[in-house]
Amino acid sequence: MLNDVIISQDLRHDVEEAIRRQPHDRLFVLTDTTTLKLCWPLVSALPCLGTAEMITIGDTDENKTLDSLSHVWSSLQKGGATRHSLMLNLGGGMVTDLGGFAASTFKRGLAYINIPTTLLSQVDASVGGKTGINFGGLKNEIGVFSSPASVIISSEFLCSLDMENILSGYAEMLKHGLISDAESWAELLCFDPTLIEHSTLTFDHLATPEASSERHNAQHSMVNGQWQHIGALVAKSVAIKQRIVEEDPTEKGLRKALNLGHTAGHALESLALEQGRPVLHGYAVAWGLICELYLSVVKCGFPKDKFRQTVQFIRQQYGDPNIDCKQYEHLYEFMTHDKKNEGGIINFTLLADIGDIRINQQANKEEIFEMLDFLREG
Ligand code: GLY
Repeated sequence: MLNDVIISQDLRHDVEEAIRRQPHDRLFVLTDTTTLKLCWPLVSALPCLGTAEMITIGDTDENKTLDSLSHVWSSLQKGGATRHSLMLNLGGGMVTDLGGFAASTFKRGLAYINIPTTLLSQVDASVGGKTGINFGGLKNEIGVFSSPASVIISSEFLCSLDMENILSGYAEMLKHGLISDAESWAELLCFDPTLIEHSTLTFDHLATPEASSERHNAQHSMVNGQWQHIGALVAKSVAIKQRIVEEDPTEKGLRKALNLGHTAGHALESLALEQGRPVLHGYAVAWGLICELYLSVVKCGFPKDKFRQTVQFIRQQYGDPNIDCKQYEHLYEFMTHDKKNEGGIINFTLLADIGDIRINQQANKEEIFEMLDFLREG
C-alpha cells in the first residue's frame, strides 16, 4: 500500500515522468469543472497528455455521488478503457477520492495517478489510499483502500486558493504536527498561514494564453516568499502521514491517530451542513482539535501549556464555530454515528503529549458536553 509521493519542484517534468513510468494503452484525465479551468492549463500542453480523454464532473463535495461515479465509469467504458489504461485525477479530495475509487473498481482496477490541487488534498486526501464516495447522506460511506501509482504535489496549484482553503488544509497539517513531534508542532504554530500572499489570478486569467506568463511571474514571487516556507511544511506534513500509513495502511491501529480532531470535527461539520451554513472541512477539524485536546488534558494529562498555545492559535485563525448549548444533544447524536465507533461507543483519538498517541479512548456524555462548553466559551 505504498504511495510514490513526489514533492514536485517541476510540475510538468514530474507529470511526464510519472506517466512514463506507468506504461498504458489509453490515458484518461479526470477533473471537476473548476480544476478543468484553473489547473488543467498548467499541464495540458504536455505532449504525453495530447491524446488523453477528458472526463469532467461537477465540483464541490455534493458531486461525490454514485451518479458522478457512474458518469466516470461510463466514460471509461465508452473511451475503451482496459486494465492497462491509466487515469490521472487532477483536483481536490473529491476528485482524487472519487477518481481513485472509479479507477480501482473499473474492470477490477486500473492504475491511477493523483495530482492534488488543494492544500487539504495535498496533505491528506490524496495520500494514503483511501478512495470512495458519499452515500445515503453519509460522507465516504462506500470505498476501498487502493493506492495511486504516484501522487504529485506541487505548490503551483496553491496560488489559486483563497485564504479559507489554505487554512482548511493547514488544520490537517497542525493535526500531523500534534501527532508527530514537538518540533513540527512548534514550527506550525510559529507560521502565520494568513501571511501567504496568494495570487489574485482568477479562472479567466488562467484560461487565456497570457495567463501562462502572468502565472510564471506570480510563481517567481511565490517561490521567493511564504510559498517556499509552506512548500517545506507541506513536505514534512506529507512525510508524517506517509510514515503512519506505511505502518498501518488499513487503519487497524496507529492510523487512527489521523482521526485526532475528527470525531468532534465531523459532528460540527455535519451540524453546520444541516443548518445550511456549511463550513470547510479543515475549519471543523480545527475546532475538533480544540475539543479533543481538551479531552486529552482531562483524560490523558496532555500538558496544559501546549494545550493553551494550540487553542490560542486555532481561535485566532479559525474563529468560533457558532454553536449554542441547545445543539449539544444533536452534536452528541452525530458523534454516536461516527463510522470509527465500535460497539456503539464513541471513539476518540487523544494525546498524552505531542506525539504520544492514545487511540480508542472513550468519553461519557457529561465529559463530551463539558468539552463542547470549553469549545464555546473557552
Ligand atoms: N484522512 C485520514 C486518513 O487518511 O486516514
